[in-house]
Amino acid sequence: MKVLVTGVTGYIGSHTAVELLAEGHDLIGIDDFSTSSPKVKHDIERVAGRPFTLLDLDLRNRCEVECLLASGEFDAIIHFAGRKFVGESVAEPMQYYERNLAASVSLAAAAQRHEISHVVFSSSCTVYGQPTQLPVTEETPIAPVSPYGRTKAMTETVLQDLCDATPSASVLALRYFNPIGAHPSALLGEVPSGPPNNLLPYIMQVAKRVRPFLNIYGGDYDTHDGTCIRDYIHVVDLARAHVLALDRAAETTGFEALNLGTGIGSSVLDVLEACEKATGRAIPHQIVDRRPGDAASMFADPSRAQQLLGWKAEANLPEMCLDHWNFERNLDVDALSA
Ligand SMILES: NC(=O)c1ccc[n+]([C@@H]2O[C@H](COP(=O)([O-])OP(=O)(O)OC[C@H]3O[C@@H](n4cnc5c(N)ncnc54)[C@H](O)[C@@H]3O)[C@@H](O)[C@H]2O)c1
Repeated sequence: MKVLVTGVTGYIGSHTAVELLAEGHDLIGIDDFSTSSPKVKHDIERVAGRPFTLLDLDLRNRCEVECLLASGEFDAIIHFAGRKFVGESVAEPMQYYERNLAASVSLAAAAQRHEISHVVFSSSCTVYGQPTQLPVTEETPIAPVSPYGRTKAMTETVLQDLCDATPSASVLALRYFNPIGAHPSALLGEVPSGPPNNLLPYIMQVAKRVRPFLNIYGGDYDTHDGTCIRDYIHVVDLARAHVLALDRAAETTGFEALNLGTGIGSSVLDVLEACEKATGRAIPHQIVDRRPGDAASMFADPSRAQQLLGWKAEANLPEMCLDHWNFERNLDVDALSA
């Protein structure tokens, strides 16, 4: 297929580009490089052994999006571009509504006008808010508690309406749990811009002595060691699911949402211990007060993705932490300390 990939030089986009190229798809990638670098193109091509086209384009620019889709003859779109941090979305909600929601609406409208029927969308487990029942299935009520989560839930609704009104359309909304890890080549991975908002990049920077210690928010949750539990999934497992989702989108019509996780919950202290083993270094840490809005425990029931895509996450926590470290250890310390 000829596939438009938005946010292609980002963390998940770059790993997915490698898998798509390996499967023989032709890619046109776009990015505005607001949280990534155009240099990632070279690394994607080095790992995949095939070239692709990369365009500098801000999805919020409706005219440019319209022109691209009018002339591109795309078979499908995989839509990653957007922002991803809950805390940042509370501080800057309009940026999230513009980048995540408004840009997605204009992309979907242009896709409909130019009869690009197949869309795979980066959604998130944040659409579930603080679920009261575990594991989280796709039937768990949608109840986001942050602007970020709301942009994902609203975009899903928009895409569902698009499918209802367009008999040929197929959309798969992939609700990621907590992607970590890096490509085993150590050429691709997550490069945080500024102080990391996510656990793994933060732990790795403590391991590198870029930051002095890790704050663990809450040690008195109702979990096996008192710290919060999440479902961590290797980014390459996640990337593989996109290729299968694209195949399914080409064979079906309508809207489907799928959880992408391992189904296994790991606590912050479990992750810390796995990272200490992976890095061979002690990770100084301290337990501080809980953060408002953090659910004690959240992990997926990924059985629908297994059933519909024939997909299952393969990597375990030690493998994820080791791959993450092998990428991170080579990153420039000055770039990280910003
Ligand atoms: N990484 C996670 O923990 C996680 C979890 C759930 C969902 N998601 C979603 O997955 C998607 C990809 O996440 P990621 O981890 O790769 O993030 P990322 O920040 O590494 O990648 C996002 C990419 O989109 C680009 N971008 C942002 N706004 C743009 C715009 N207006 N026009 C063009 N490009 C733009 C950025 O420059 C970046 O390259 C996002 O939509 C995110 O919300 C991520």
